[in-house]
Amino acid sequence: MRHQRTKTCGECRLSHVGERVVLNGWIQAVRDHGGLMFIDLRDRYGFTQVVADPTQHAQLAEVGPECVIAVVGTVRARPAEARNANRSTGDIEVAALEIEVLNTTKVPPFEVTDECRTREELRLEHRYIDMRRRPVLAAMELRSRLNFLIRQSMVGQGFMEVETPVLMKTSPEGARDFLVPSRVHPGLAYGLPQSPQLFKQTLMVCGIDKYFQICKCFRDEDLRADRQPEFTQLDMEMSFVRQEDVFAVMEKLMTGVWSELAGSTVTAPFPRMTWDASMTHFGSDKPETRFGLELFDFAERARVSPFKVFSQTMTAPQGTVRGMVVPGGAALPRRVIDESEAVAKSYGMGGLAWVKLGAEGPQGPLSKFLGPEDLAALKSFGANQGDLVVFTAGRFEPALNALGQVRLHYGRELKLIDTKQTHFVWITDFPMFEWNEDEKRFEAKHHMFTAPTEALPPVGGDLSHLKASLYDLVLNGNEIGSGSIRIHQPEVQAQVFAHVGLTPEQAQDKFGWFLRVLEYGAPPHGGIALGIDRIAMILAGATSLRDVIAFPKSASGVCPLTQSPSAPDERQWRELHLRPEA
Ligand code: AMO
Ligand code: AMP
Repeated sequence: MRHQRTKTCGECRLSHVGERVVLNGWIQAVRDHGGLMFIDLRDRYGFTQVVADPTQHAQLAEVGPECVIAVVGTVRARPAEARNANRSTGDIEVAALEIEVLNTTKVPPFEVTDECRTREELRLEHRYIDMRRRPVLAAMELRSRLNFLIRQSMVGQGFMEVETPVLMKTSPEGARDFLVPSRVHPGLAYGLPQSPQLFKQTLMVCGIDKYFQICKCFRDEDLRADRQPEFTQLDMEMSFVRQEDVFAVMEKLMTGVWSELAGSTVTAPFPRMTWDASMTHFGSDKPETRFGLELFDFAERARVSPFKVFSQTMTAPQGTVRGMVVPGGAALPRRVIDESEAVAKSYGMGGLAWVKLGAEGPQGPLSKFLGPEDLAALKSFGANQGDLVVFTAGRFEPALNALGQVRLHYGRELKLIDTKQTHFVWITDFPMFEWNEDEKRFEAKHHMFTAPTEALPPVGGDLSHLKASLYDLVLNGNEIGSGSIRIHQPEVQAQVFAHVGLTPEQAQDKFGWFLRVLEYGAPPHGGIALGIDRIAMILAGATSLRDVIAFPKSASGVCPLTQSPSAPDERQWRELHLRPEA
């Protein structure tokens, strides 16, 4: 390269008029205007218009969009009518004296424009072109600033960043581990961390007191729009703390991040809601609180209802019937109601019971089962003529979750969500355990290292009512963080292992090393981890994590750019003492 840049493509202003500059960049577009060529030159910092006389620069005949060139030229003011107020460099242009072609290009598979209708697979396959587009570049910039602000805030609050291993002992935490077979130790494997949970707790026993890390986590689970197999956390842990101390650190961080990156003020402390309240009012442990449509409990009437789905559910274990009023919903087309029933079914309900309170009285499948007392009850829950009321019947969590999803369906359908608002809320007092119907055992709601808020019953006892010092940070209906106060006594930790069905041998095998750590003066401690990808997604106004990850995996877990996972060759398998399935 003969001509190295003296200015970026976003830098020149009227104050540079008359200066000789060198620009390096990609050709965005070339226009031929009556014998003069107008080239939009682009780099990370912006665009500059270059004007060239093609008779002076023969090499212009060979270049097109996305070729890389160097331009030596003079900055001059554009005529008033040619100024472009939408560009930082819109008042000037560079008259080319010399043009050097630094590289040519194949014809790109899509244009580098802000709006891009190209399908995502193709964009991700050519991410090196896709990222030249402003929105993708802006998302990368946003993440970089977010990471910087996180480090600034955490270090400012006295935290120490410590890196923890990526090759570690496999320890399933909820999802499946990714395994890395060992070459040196035949038959053995490392696991990739689902999170640095046990290392960060160990760091508290080390006396680090306040730890944080921006770290990669790996989980072999089914993907969704808000899940990637590898993702990034802000992980943190503190010693000698209560839940409130963790909240205060995170509130300071998030209010700072929001004022810098969202340009809006959020005020701390954030509201708190217990898990029970969140479930009963919103049908979710990550409530979207930017609209109403809260749920009600129809148990009293359901118990004596002639509608068998209701009355039978009420006699079943944990059975409940919950309802929700959709104001003005009686006027909704059948399609919307059918779609909401499909939502309820996709969340495990047999259906969605509904009634329209029309001018001529109740209409719909449920209407024939509703007597005057039922209608009076509905009125007491806020239902009036012109409204729609929908119900789910089932076990507590599934029935509430399904109705919570139906609530979101109507919130979106009726455009009730005020997307300009930012609602942070702490969800507290989660149950410690949940029942796994398939495996007929209790399992930890979050993870096995969370402290109970009361003494544990003997093994085999009912755990369904136990609460834990467990909390989530929810933002606009998204779970962006989760944490807890931890168990710091080895006896309690061993009890929890027993409650979730680990034999003492299994507990020793999997977690013996950590039980020993706890035996040597473990301080009381607690912490949280925030999902940085999710926070970046919300800040960027994106709807998929892939939009804010440089090289994301596709929905099927494949890297579209490099085509991983790929087949190791024979020798690699052999060295790992493995053989692929035929
Ligand atoms: P948890 O598993 O809840 O907690 O994870 C913390 C946060 O990480 C984000 N997150 C994800 N983001 C993208 N893709 C995924 N697959 C994914 N899974 C989780 C979420 C979530 O709230 N060790 C504990 C934390 C602790 O107890 O301190 C943990 O990892 O935003
Ligand atoms: P069925 O008896 O299955 O024909 O259902 C009668 C009505 O009850 C239909 O409108 C179903 O959508 C509704 N329904 C079925 N199962 C449930 C349930 N678990 N919760 C609420 N409504 C249901």
